[in-house]
Amino acid sequence: MMRDANPQSAIRNPHSVRKAVIPAAGMGTRFLPATKSMPKEMLPIVDTPVLQFVIEEAVASGIDDILIVTGRGKRAIENHFDFNPELEGFLAAAGKHQLIEQVRGIGDRARIHYIRQKEQLGLGDAIRLGRDHVGDQPFAVLLGDTIIDPPDGQRPGLRQILDVFEEKQASVVAVHRVPREWVSRYGIVDGEPEPNNRDLVRLRQLVEKPAVDQAPSDLAIAGRYVFTPEIFDCIDATGRGVGGEIQLTDAMNLLAQRQPMYALAWQAKRYDIGNRVEYAKCFIDFALRRPETAKAVREHLSKVLGGA
Ligand code: G1P
Repeated sequence: MMRDANPQSAIRNPHSVRKAVIPAAGMGTRFLPATKSMPKEMLPIVDTPVLQFVIEEAVASGIDDILIVTGRGKRAIENHFDFNPELEGFLAAAGKHQLIEQVRGIGDRARIHYIRQKEQLGLGDAIRLGRDHVGDQPFAVLLGDTIIDPPDGQRPGLRQILDVFEEKQASVVAVHRVPREWVSRYGIVDGEPEPNNRDLVRLRQLVEKPAVDQAPSDLAIAGRYVFTPEIFDCIDATGRGVGGEIQLTDAMNLLAQRQPMYALAWQAKRYDIGNRVEYAKCFIDFALRRPETAKAVREHLSKVLGGA
């Protein structure tokens, strides 16, 4: 489903990162009323939930152990990645064997675990809940409401920063350039570009949602991270930040003072599904790409926009 330009990228390396934590506990208030009874991570892009794209990206990047941080009202996530014998029996009786393959899909290819965040204390707190599962090993983080779509021919988003991790043996975060007036929506990073690779920045400072006139750069955190386990001590040492929440970005700022840390400025497109306009753009872009829907949707759009 997620395009993997280089399937070889999933080849297992016993020394590489094997576990990922996916925070998916947010209330989705920007998407009410849809999120009253449905997690925003389960919103469909054509026919596939957002979170399935995120997990497929992790699996295509060589990760086979995933901890999803959920919360109240998120049971649909567990049901989606579980078997559904009743549905499979129905599809088998109807001769729809290809659909059985699809509904089993990803739940078969990764070991998925769950933990619940009891209180909405922020992204830093959600990641901290992964500590016992992750142990003393490096691990990846993928935001469960963000789809990353690299240009054709490039490796999956997470794989790109795992490659940097494997080279540097240091924490890495993906970033992308945003218009200056948007910086206060994101974590913003600042540092020194590497002499041999201008897209790789050795980090000095990270700030969560700075005011436009205080942002140290226009490089915004894009929702994919690889951390050394020392991030957990940094989260413990982080008090409440912007919005009264324990911010992962503040903990990363501390980590960058303690050990080398890098940002990879990539070209991948990023869709933040918690944002209604980005959700609509993502749905349209993917519908225009899927062979079953592309032609009819293109025709419809040109009819609707014909007079625009
Ligand atoms: C979170 C992070 C922020 C990052 C953003 C990317 O913010 O705290 O650093 O830039 O995701 O989507 P949120 O979107 O949860 O407010």
